[in-house]
Formats: sequence, C-alpha cells, structure tokens
Amino acid sequence: MKEKDSERIVELRQLLNNHNYKYYVLSAPEISDFEYDQLMHELVQLESKYPEYADANSPTQRVGSDLNNEFKQVKHKYPMLSLGNTYNETEIRDFDLRVAKTLNTTYSYVCELKYDGASISLTYEKGNLKYAVTRGDGEKGDDVTNNVRTIGSIPLTLKGTNYPELFEIRGEVFLPHKGFEKLNKEREELGENTFANPRNAASGSLKIQNSSLVAKRPLDCYLYYLLGSELPTDSHFDNLQRCREWGFKIPTENKRCNSIEEVLKFIEFWDTNRRQLPYDIDGIVIKVDSIAQQEQLGFTAKSPRWAISYKFKAEQAATKLLSVDFQVGRTGAITPVANLEPVFLAGTTVKRASLHNEDIIVLHDLHLNDTVLVEKGGEIIPKIVGVNIDKRETDAKKVIFIDNCPECNTKLIRAEGEAAYYCPNEKGCSPQIKGKIIHFISRKAMNMDSLGEETIELLYSNKLIANISDLYTLTKEQLLPLERMAEKSANNIMNSIQQSKAVPFERLLFGIGIRHVGATVAKNLAKAFGSMEELSHASYESLIATEEIGEKIALSILDYFSDSENSILIEKLKLYGLQFETEKSELKSLNLKGLSIIASGKLEHFSREEIKTIIEAHGGKAVSSISKQTSYLLAGENIGPNKLSKAVELGIPIITEQDFIKMIES
Ligand code: IVH
Repeated sequence: MKEKDSERIVELRQLLNNHNYKYYVLSAPEISDFEYDQLMHELVQLESKYPEYADANSPTQRVGSDLNNEFKQVKHKYPMLSLGNTYNETEIRDFDLRVAKTLNTTYSYVCELKYDGASISLTYEKGNLKYAVTRGDGEKGDDVTNNVRTIGSIPLTLKGTNYPELFEIRGEVFLPHKGFEKLNKEREELGENTFANPRNAASGSLKIQNSSLVAKRPLDCYLYYLLGSELPTDSHFDNLQRCREWGFKIPTENKRCNSIEEVLKFIEFWDTNRRQLPYDIDGIVIKVDSIAQQEQLGFTAKSPRWAISYKFKAEQAATKLLSVDFQVGRTGAITPVANLEPVFLAGTTVKRASLHNEDIIVLHDLHLNDTVLVEKGGEIIPKIVGVNIDKRETDAKKVIFIDNCPECNTKLIRAEGEAAYYCPNEKGCSPQIKGKIIHFISRKAMNMDSLGEETIELLYSNKLIANISDLYTLTKEQLLPLERMAEKSANNIMNSIQQSKAVPFERLLFGIGIRHVGATVAKNLAKAFGSMEELSHASYESLIATEEIGEKIALSILDYFSDSENSILIEKLKLYGLQFETEKSELKSLNLKGLSIIASGKLEHFSREEIKTIIEAHGGKAVSSISKQTSYLLAGENIGPNKLSKAVELGIPIITEQDFIKMIES
C-alpha cells in the first residue's frame, strides 16, 4: 500500500468519526451532507482498493450487512442487574435513610432520567468498540455488536486518548417518538404488524438478523453507567462527563443533588415535563455519586443498594362506563369502544376508551354503569385498566361481546390465533364498503381530491354508488340534486374522477384495497408483473419471488383474484379506461440487457425519473436497493454513504455518469 493512501485512510476515518459525532451526538453538524458524502466516498474507494486495510469499526461499516447475524450468547463480566422500584415520596425517603445509615457521612446523589428502551452493554478495548451485548437474563446476553454498529450515536472508535484501555459502558437503546411513528407507518403500508410502543420497537430492532435492516431504524442511545477497574474519577457524575469527551452521548438532564429534597424536586419537575421530551421515559433513577460509597453500599442479589428508580404513575382517573359501542373498520375488524362519563385526564377530557377486543371485556368482567379506572399511558387513546367492583350496582348488566355484525347482522368470525372478531361480509357491510371507496379516492391511491369522506357518505346513502367502479358511471345530473352540491363542486368531482383514469397502475393496484397490499407492495407488484392481466394470473411461487412479498401477502392476492365479484369489478375498471399496465419506455438499444443498475446521487444529465427510463430504454433494469444481484452502482454527486459502502462490501463496481453514457452510446 502506498504510504500516502494508508495515511489518508486513517485521516478520513478520524474526520468522519468526528463529523459523525457532531451530527449524531451533539446534533450540531459542521459540514454539509454533500461534504460528508464526499469524504465517505473517498474512504470507500480507498478501502475497496486496499481490502487488507478493512476494519469493522471503520465509519463505512455503519450501514450493516445482509449476512445473517448469529447472536452468540456472551457472559457479562459484571452482571446486568435491575433497579429496585419506588412509587412515592415515602419510599424515596426510606431509601435515603438506608443510604445515610450505611454511609454515616455526607454524600450526594445523581438524578437521571429512566429511559424506556432496551439496555445494552458496550465493551471498548484500546478505544475501539469490541462487543455490544443485550441484558439477556442479567448473567449472559446476546452479542448484537453488528447491529449496534449501525447506531449513529454510538462511537465505534473513541475521541482523545485518556480513556481506560478496557472498560464497559451501559446505556439504553431507544427509538425517539418521531422515528417510532415513521417506522410504524412504513410497517402499516407493508401490511406488517405495528409495534405497540417504542420500547418493543427498540428491543425488536436489536434482534433483527440482518444488520442492514437495523441501519434503517432510527435508533438512538444514551449511556448512563461506566464500569471498569480503572475509572477516571471517584464521581459517577464526573465519569460520565469524561465519557462525553470520549464521544459518548451522555444525557444533559443528569443532575447532582446534595439532598433528598433536591432529588424530590427533580422528580416533580420531570413528572410534569416528561411529555415534552422527544422520547419515552418511565421514571427517574437516583444514584449515589461517589464510586467508593457505591462500593461500600454494595448490591443485593438483584439490584444495587446505591441506586433506586422512581416510577411515574401512568395518569389515571375513575369514571362511569355508560355503554359499549361496537365499531366496524374498513377491513371488517370489530373494535369495542367504551362510552364514559366525561372525565379530565392528563390535559384532555376523556369520553371514550378503546377496549381493543373481547379479551379486555372478559378480563375485567365489565358491567354497564361500572366505575372504571381509565389510564393514559404511552398510548394516545386511553384504556380501561380496572373496575371498582364494590361500586357495582346489584342488578348491573354484563357487557357481552356481540355475535353478529352491528351493521349488517352477519355472524362474526374470529381467526385462529387472532384477538379480533371480523365481519366476513366484505361486500355487503356498509362501513366496509364505504371504507374501501374512501381508501380508493385517497391521495396515495387515485387522488380524487374534490371527493371527500362526506361526499362518499352522501353518494352511498343516496344509493348512487355501491363500489369503486360505480364512481365512473356517475353523472353531473345525479350529483346536482344532492345536499349542498353546487354546480362548481359537481364539476370538480366529475373532473377528479375523469383525471383519476390517468393515475398509474401501481396506485390503482394500491387503491383497489387487496388486504395487506400497501403502497410499497403495490409498487413492487406493478414493477414485477407489469399489468393487471399478468398479476391476476400470477402463481404463488412467482408472487413470493417478488421483492418484499411473503406468504401472507401472496395468499391475499390469490384470494382476491379468485373471487368472481372482484373479477367483474376489475373488468369494469378496465372498460372505463383506468391504467392497467405499468408505463413502458421505448426500447432504444439492448446495451444494458441483463444488467441491474442502481443510480444514486445527483446526476448532471438526467433527473431521478429520467435515469430509470433511460436504463430501461436500453434494456436494463433500474433497481432501488443494492443487493448481490446488482450489476453496477451509478454514482452521482452527493451520493449517500450507505449506498457506497454497501456497494464496496458486496464488490459491486461503481461507475460514473460518463462511464454510463459511454455504455449506452457504444
Ligand atoms: S442504571 C445497576 N440508569 O432501567 C443499575 N438504568 O430497572 C444499572 N434504565 O436495566 C442501571 N435509564 O435498562 C440506569 N439512567 C438510567 C437508566 C436505567 C433506564 C433501565 C436499564 C436497567 C433498568 C433497571
């Protein structure tokens, strides 16, 4: 290796680690994404030129890999214990008395937020991340190092030089609210189960077997506990400040307190203000600051005697259960909803609470007029968590889950292993029919923006439409007599419907509402099969061979097209002139035949859309994610570091725009 190149590799790694730290830990980037990507590009190129210089902790490795992770079990050097819990002021004061009695001298506490995620133990050797291990049973956990390497705020190599040669640091991996919402939205679109809360999402993410998928999850990590035989100072608080200098993300909310009164003030402050934080906390952790005093206090079998957690109460209120409604959703799922006597809870008046499914009604043996306890936990919709049986009226009527659909009276079914009941009358049950039409006209589907939910209700109740195809036979004369329908609105509606005929096939496919076929799945199907005709005759094998399509979705598609009523509906839509094929580009050459090309970054001569068309026009396949099957990565300006390093890792040749132009013109 040329000496200059090896020096440059070291320099680039340092530069990138530093910019990464500024971006993820300090949230204060110093250079533009473009400049960052340029440095990353240079490093990726050099590393690909000198594979012998590979390093698992290089900043190029944060993208993860497609290789199956195997989670080896690793024994913790220091067991990962839990914390004793307290729930009120008296219990906190009792803890303080115990500490005072043992220490019999002055001491201070450090108060910290209690993050609600998945705990992780990181081992660093000579400034490099060596292992990341989950808590497991406290004695041994899973080695999830490859996954943890993808978390931007965890340093792979440390800053400075004055860190211990070998140490462990523990903290919490979590998903901030925004990332959690984004993740669940994506999962919903893919027809996958959503996570109940950010904690489950974070711990689930650490256990994904493919680290390149983990890299896509916006995980973050706060560190709160430094362990080792040579700690920098005797103060836990000061040690964490040192850790911050080494590049770790240390919470700025930590506070040293010199009395239990100060501790109680900290708790009170965060009990009121915790909802302003961009992530979940479920309490406060109180730790004795001096390490020597911590050692003096020691541990019980389960937890340290020098620390305790205070758990926030989920906000609760008692109110009366007035009645239970049963709602039918677009998919036919029945949700019981409790109507409550209005009660003020955590800033809002609560009148309704979700009962989710039958199990909760049975669990609490709910009766009408019961005094119930409502709780607003991490979830937005309040839930019933208890009943005061003493207040039950003697002749109270038991709440019974319905047997038949409240809308169409069809007998409900409960699929094996599922908690929800469904109304199977998909095509004859009003809320399901209306729900399907509302989905069809929505922005991401046919985008009929002058039609809204209310208009659909109106058209449906006036018997002008009974399914999506009926929209295309509506006339202006039918619309005008409707309530609050002016000439202009009627014109707009007719235009919207007309324009929807040009909406691309993939969005039509999403709009027809095949169960589990979200926007992304529809796009993949449209790309793979090219037309409704092909898709409707697709085999199970060809379906599951399609990107991101598994058994559940494949079966649902087969089911949809085997239904004769659906076939009639599809025939009608075809007759009305909707788009039944993906747009094909004119074939200009076969220069790229058999090649899959991914274009990334800003190109000089082509827009994002154009480059896809050009690749296809020359017989190639334009792909959107890198895999072993990809033939070339066409790298433009400002190309994302993830794509570049992935290409290098998989040994995929990287070409410039000039190379590409030569290929198509030759
Ligand atoms: S210290 C020996 N500090 O709470 C004590 N834990 O119930 C080590 N947690 O497993 C833990 N925030 O996952 C500590 N600021 C914090 C924390 C924290 C959240 C979690 C951690 C631990 C659990 C204990």
